Amino acid sequence: MMSAPRLAIVLCSLVGFSAGAVSAAEPISYRRQVWPILKRHCWSCHSGKKPGGRLSLTTAEAIQRGGESGRLLVPGKPEESLLIEITGGNEPSMPPKGPPLSSAKIEILRRWIVQGAEVDKIAPPGEARIVIPREYTFPPAITSTAFSPDGSRIACACRSEVVVVQADGKGLPLRLPTRSDLINHVEYSADGKFLLAAGGTPSRYGEVCVFAVADGKQVLARRVGNDTLFRGGFSPDGTRVALGGADGAVYVIPLDAKAKVRRFELHSDWVVDVAWTPDGKKLVTAGRDKATKVASVETGKLLRTVDSSKERMSSVVTDGVFAVSAGKARTLIGYQLDVALQNVSVTGAGNGAKPITRRDQYTKNFEGQPGEVIDIALSGNRKSIAVAGLSTEVRIYSIADRKRTAIATGVRAPVFSVALNGDATLLAVGGQDGQLEVYRLPKVQRVFSRIPVPVRKSVAGKPGR
Ligand code: HEC
Repeated sequence: MMSAPRLAIVLCSLVGFSAGAVSAAEPISYRRQVWPILKRHCWSCHSGKKPGGRLSLTTAEAIQRGGESGRLLVPGKPEESLLIEITGGNEPSMPPKGPPLSSAKIEILRRWIVQGAEVDKIAPPGEARIVIPREYTFPPAITSTAFSPDGSRIACACRSEVVVVQADGKGLPLRLPTRSDLINHVEYSADGKFLLAAGGTPSRYGEVCVFAVADGKQVLARRVGNDTLFRGGFSPDGTRVALGGADGAVYVIPLDAKAKVRRFELHSDWVVDVAWTPDGKKLVTAGRDKATKVASVETGKLLRTVDSSKERMSSVVTDGVFAVSAGKARTLIGYQLDVALQNVSVTGAGNGAKPITRRDQYTKNFEGQPGEVIDIALSGNRKSIAVAGLSTEVRIYSIADRKRTAIATGVRAPVFSVALNGDATLLAVGGQDGQLEVYRLPKVQRVFSRIPVPVRKSVAGKPGR
């Protein structure tokens, strides 16, 4: 027997009854009304490489094309359209599990077909609306910071734009807009000629932008994958960038827009950071899946999972001898790469031979950290690191002996990003509150503190209107 709600749906569609907020005269927008229904209720099975029934519902063209059984739509004739029959007919079979579409949603699909199933010309669905205000009401968090190789400038990722300030804090910042909802990584190429901004728009696209430092012009904008890109960096020869993806893959993206993007599947969750060894042959990756891994750039294959933490990772750097990674677990661990990548060693011989726990042989612990680590910065000369996160301290270490060389206290927590210049004499700290603080090392004297973006003047501490 037909259940009451389903009967109601059938009756509604039979008499052309307009359900909910949809009035008969109102034109239906594919972009605003139809596409969101399909995305929410159908995409889990009707998107990607092998969609159910060979039917993809992700683009207007694919919907026009239909699936295994042919056409999905007969414009003007909902009663002859498979889309309506399968979702709202006597025995709705899609979605196959859970409740059928609400009568209001079916009515939207039906009216859209009645009106000719047209695709309207407002912003395409893949295009998120990126708004960069002339002045901000609240300063955006600084999600990444980087020094230019000569130490004269600092690039800050401020939501959808890169803001470049002078390292003395003076002058007017340069604002470089992108089409990413959120930029997660900024970095200068080793020759100082290019500035990279990587990020994207969640569930839509990852994006890489490269600007020429000389004139601030965007020289490359490439979209990769269907989700945000996190941290990574330029290859040592400056021809490619490697970045972690929210889809668990590492992307190696050539700056030559015609060359192919490579994608390495290495982690089971977000790849939050990627570091190149100085010879450009290996990538060290850190994942939200709690693992730190080493992969070959040439083959894209995993060489070794060097560690699995109890908590998610957030950042990794390498000087070529050691890789250093950290995350939520408050531990900062160095991995001696040559030992970590050797074959498993054994003690004893013959029947008495036993494999020995090799992790101990290549892991070198730094001191414990005062809070969750969110970012590790490597100095240009690859000798020092700065470590920061959910604590009011930023600690500086020399990688080779793991000794702490400086400590900045009383910084504004949480810190989202840190950067060191070439010889680790300058430290930049970017926080959730949008302040950029710069310190001179090793004595830790504050050079300046400023919000890099323009912020509307507020009245008596209240945010401006
Ligand atoms: C849980 C997975 C799943 C969901 C969710 C789902 N489908 Fe399907 N769908 C399938 C599979 C699998 C097939 C092919 C086998 C079959 O017909 O059962 C299919 C087949 C179809 C077909 C027939 C395609 C053809 O040409 O033969 C249509 C039309 C369809 N689905 C529409 C939808 C619509 C519209 C939605 C959302 C309201 C939806 N489906 C949601 C799994 C799903």
